[in-house]
Amino acid sequence: MTIEIKPLKKKIAILISGTGTNMEAIIKDSNTNNYSGIIKFVLSNNPDALGIIKAKTLGIKTFVFPVDKNNSLEIFEKRVLKLLKKEKIELLCLAGFMKILSKSFIQNYKGIILNIHPSILPSIKGLNTHKRVLEKDIKIHGATVHIVTPELDSGKILGQVTINILKNDTPKKLAKKLIKKEHQLYTKVIRNVIKGNNTIIQEN
Ligand code: GAR
Repeated sequence: MTIEIKPLKKKIAILISGTGTNMEAIIKDSNTNNYSGIIKFVLSNNPDALGIIKAKTLGIKTFVFPVDKNNSLEIFEKRVLKLLKKEKIELLCLAGFMKILSKSFIQNYKGIILNIHPSILPSIKGLNTHKRVLEKDIKIHGATVHIVTPELDSGKILGQVTINILKNDTPKKLAKKLIKKEHQLYTKVIRNVIKGNNTIIQEN
């Protein structure tokens, strides 16, 4: 009898708060050939996140740990850390996760945390990036995948994609144009990270 030894796959978890289209792209990519990772679960702080239904449909285990008046962010983080440890998660991907993780969470988690942010960092950190970019006199917008560190939207940049801002663009139009590019960028960066490839992706 021959025993086939398959390469071990990096264990990945995804945190979401909403629609979960980046999450969906990551899960679909993980189902394709030559993927050196496995998505162990998707977790949301928001019980109404559409992404949770999508993840279930795609056959991924889901968790909802609400952050509300009975459950502080501190309680949420403790529950998440415990789960990450139990499931031996090596890579945590924030995909439209809209809470700011504490310094203590980031320092206590021993794996890598990635985030996708809808701007060309270090420009326009924080929220409402599509509206804010239109208020500036610049013609280019984009998204960044970076390593999460205690300082908001400031960790090492692993990939960026850009789009041109047209005269009649609105925040909604920009978000729509960018999201497909976000999916391509995030899946490529994750592939690099789980293979230990340090190349920084720059796309237009
Ligand atoms: C994406 O545009 C992502 O870049 C952004 O939220 C959206 C989530 O969409 N993330 C942030 O603003 C994080 N600060 P999705 O749920 O469809 O992936």
